Amino acid sequence: MMWEASAPSNIALVKYMGKLHGGNVAMNASLSWTLEHLRTFVQMEIAEDDTWEPHPQFKPLNMSAMGLQKYLKHLNLMKSYFNAETFHFTVRSANNFPSDCGIASSASSFAALTLCAAKALSGLTQKPMPTLEVLADLSRQGSGSSCRSFFKNFVVWEDNRIYQTPSTVNEMIHQVVIVSGTAKTVSSSQAHSRVQTSSLIQGRIERAQMRFCAIADELKSESPNWKNLYENTWADFWDMHALFETSHPPFGYMQKESLEVLNICRGLWDAEGDGPLITMDAGPNVHLMWRMDQKSQSQKFIRNYGQFQIIEGFTS
Ligand code: PMV
Repeated sequence: MMWEASAPSNIALVKYMGKLHGGNVAMNASLSWTLEHLRTFVQMEIAEDDTWEPHPQFKPLNMSAMGLQKYLKHLNLMKSYFNAETFHFTVRSANNFPSDCGIASSASSFAALTLCAAKALSGLTQKPMPTLEVLADLSRQGSGSSCRSFFKNFVVWEDNRIYQTPSTVNEMIHQVVIVSGTAKTVSSSQAHSRVQTSSLIQGRIERAQMRFCAIADELKSESPNWKNLYENTWADFWDMHALFETSHPPFGYMQKESLEVLNICRGLWDAEGDGPLITMDAGPNVHLMWRMDQKSQSQKFIRNYGQFQIIEGFTS
């Protein structure tokens, strides 16, 4: 018997960075956009032991020993939820995009594993499939950011609530400029704990909350002020990267080419008073989000900056 599932990644406009205590309990509320076109695919088959191997289709995926341990631990959590510890599986997974370089692959990996394991275990135990809210909360325990991948469009994770937040923006053109496809040296789990040593951690909850409220309110308005969305999104990723760079010892993901792309994008705003929403995850790549009526500007951006690899998707 084989089960299959896939789940999308998501990119945060207000970042989840820093945990309150053991377990994935976020210090602050976060808000993301779901990236339906950037997905992880999982297959599971009954086996003697729990093992992982790359999915035969899609991009070859390497998992570090620590990554593998965290992944299989999450499978165990799913088994305990279903009271089904006696079942074992071969799990195969892969992404349709480069992993570990700031395209939030842990979000889609854990969401897809949660979903596939729930399908398999619900089938094997004859227990009902959990609701989306329960699946999201189970997934959060494996990787915090993955809980936002269970809902479409703009998604909020606030305390223990995860939900799609109302918005008049229901479609965007998403581009990620791949500055580097190599794996990061400081994992996001390490980043969550190392930022606690930054002096800027003081006030982080308040700063994130202010941007969270500004963005969530703007999204609900009939005609959202795009510049306000841009400024709050821009400020929050810099806040997160400043936390990284002011930790003890400092670390960072920004590369010379990341800054080059950021300067180009800010230049668009400076010249035209309009442009994409811009953000970076814990990695060197730069994410752009354009309104649908900015389609020609988004295509011009690809034509003008052909030196970079750009992955594009229209997500709604
Ligand atoms: O889910 P984790 O523990 O890999 O957290 C990653 C959090 C960021 O991707 C850096 C930011 C976010 O909110 O997605």
